[in-house]
Amino acid sequence: MPVPVPSRPRSYPGRVPDDEPVPHRGREPEHVDVLVVGAGLSGIGAACHLTTRCPGRTVAILEARDAIGGTWDLFRYPGVRSDSDMHTLGYAFRPWRDPKPIADGPAILRYVVETAREYGVDRLVRFGHRVERARWSSADARWTVHVRRTVPGDQGVDSHGSTQILTCSFLYVCSGYYRYDAGYTPDLPGIEEFTGRVVHPQHWPADLDCSGRRVVVVGSGATAVTLVPALAETAAHVTMLQRSPTWILALPGGDPLADAARRLLPERAATSAVRWKNILTAQLTYRLSRSAPGVMRSLLLRGVRARLPEGYDVATHFTPRYAPWDQRLCLVPDGDLFRAIRSGTASVVTDTIDSFTPDGVRTTSGTVVPADVLVTATGLAVLAVGGIELEVDGQPVRVPDTVAYKGMMLSGVPNLAFTIGYTNASWTLKADLVAQYVCRLLDHLTASGRRYVVPLEPASGRRGPLLDLTSGYVRRGLQLMPQQGDRVPWRLHQSYLRDVRMFRRGRLEDAGVRFVR
Ligand SMILES: Cc1cc2nc3c(=O)[nH]c(=O)nc-3n(C[C@H](O)[C@H](O)[C@H](O)COP(=O)(O)OP(=O)(O)OC[C@H]3O[C@@H](n4cnc5c(N)ncnc54)[C@H](O)[C@@H]3O)c2cc1C
Ligand SMILES: NC(=O)c1ccc[n+]([C@@H]2O[C@H](COP(=O)([O-])OP(=O)(O)OC[C@H]3O[C@@H](n4cnc5c(N)ncnc54)[C@H](OP(=O)(O)O)[C@@H]3O)[C@@H](O)[C@H]2O)c1
Repeated sequence: MPVPVPSRPRSYPGRVPDDEPVPHRGREPEHVDVLVVGAGLSGIGAACHLTTRCPGRTVAILEARDAIGGTWDLFRYPGVRSDSDMHTLGYAFRPWRDPKPIADGPAILRYVVETAREYGVDRLVRFGHRVERARWSSADARWTVHVRRTVPGDQGVDSHGSTQILTCSFLYVCSGYYRYDAGYTPDLPGIEEFTGRVVHPQHWPADLDCSGRRVVVVGSGATAVTLVPALAETAAHVTMLQRSPTWILALPGGDPLADAARRLLPERAATSAVRWKNILTAQLTYRLSRSAPGVMRSLLLRGVRARLPEGYDVATHFTPRYAPWDQRLCLVPDGDLFRAIRSGTASVVTDTIDSFTPDGVRTTSGTVVPADVLVTATGLAVLAVGGIELEVDGQPVRVPDTVAYKGMMLSGVPNLAFTIGYTNASWTLKADLVAQYVCRLLDHLTASGRRYVVPLEPASGRRGPLLDLTSGYVRRGLQLMPQQGDRVPWRLHQSYLRDVRMFRRGRLEDAGVRFVR
């Protein structure tokens, strides 16, 4: 049974009438202890941690859109699903109970909404509130946050003009990592010649029916490999048109070890065993890819060959130019992509786009791939810190000039945390750790009588990009993101095992931060 997304609350403390241009005329703006930005998987998780671990603090969640769920509400294309297992993409504090490790988008959305309800944090969400600016004052030890009211039903971008001001002691940005209003579409010269429909998966039209039609999906990232088998179920034919191949790993749709653990162990023990099995498997796969890329290449290629017909040109279509895990490894449950190729309902063309005809795409080698619908599965447009303009004591902050502290705070920016998940493991593993760390920080500030904590820049050493993938969306977005340093606490190891120790038990007062009274 689908769980309806909670409706927008009609009134809440601090609400300013829509037609009031000056937001806090003659009265103090509303103040909260912790202001969470974003009601996606991370923001809802953060609020659950805050309300259970720091119950005395006031918390509000500002959400630009009119729904909980973020990614899992936005993306509606056929077949949308997770590509990491739900036992680790789900929260540690609320285990995922479905035996299937890979879940579809609606199931994940339901899980986030149900968690919000169960923990009562749905009541803290203020929909249609986009945070535009945040100014820190060290003298007052607080953020002044400028919020723009947005139009219901929109992606939280169009505004109807009214603004609101709030203040908070701690700003906790859980805004994800990409723009909601538009995905990335490359320049496609001559696209105007094409008379069919052109669709980006980020904004899949509810009325689009691809049954019996010829579909070309441009790209072979996680979006494309999810879409192709789903569309192939009803389309006349689906062509995945890629300019370069991707490493793909077919995994069984079920998890017999997890099923056995659930049969044999009490629920708590089984949940924990399955989580740790999945965490360790993902880490081992990643470590093997980095330390012995040749071995990993052979294993992956063997898996691909086994699922494709004899004589299939694996070298051209499924052998990437990069090493495994230079880009995120794409998982296909039960090898559904390969099944579609084997059955002839889908095929792969590896070539670059030259031009368009009224009913197809012409590639550089001269092939015309017929199409009624063209899907540009060409990726996301990265956005750092929710696009919020930050200012500290009157000085604008350029996020790319900052260095990330523990991958969750920005050098020189007091009392602000952000959530960016792992590139090589489930996002929520890091999100949960960051939330636990923020709770520890807040408790420590209170206990030690200090008002704020500010991360410092590393005094020396090399700096590098925050994310270590070579994927197109990461390369395009790096100049917007903070940097990382070459040693702890500024170096990101992308290792949950290392981070568990540091985030749950590591020293709070280390060389990378200053606590101020
Ligand atoms: C299709 C798809 C599938 C994915 N699958 C996986 C997977 O299997 N495993 C995995 O680990 N990761 C996956 N990811 C990455 C995924 O984004 C994360 O897993 C996770 O959902 C991110 O949650 P989040 O809450 O941090 O961000 P989001 O889901 O992006 O939510 C951010 C929320 O913040 C709001 N917001 C943003 N800026 C502002 C602002 N300025 N003011 C107010 N509100 C704001 C947005 O409206 C949104 O609701 C996937 C990503 C995509 C696009
Ligand atoms: N759980 C899931 O199943 C799932 C689903 C969707 C997305 N995601 C996540 O969302 C993120 C983005 O994934 P994504 O698949 O949307 O994007 P992506 O990984 O950036 O892949 C984009 C694809 O488009 C291709 N492309 C880009 N520009 C092109 C051009 N000018 N001509 C031809 N091809 C072009 C790229 O080719 P090149 O490789 O040659 O550059 C690549 O194959 C990732 O973090 C991913 O993990 C996950």
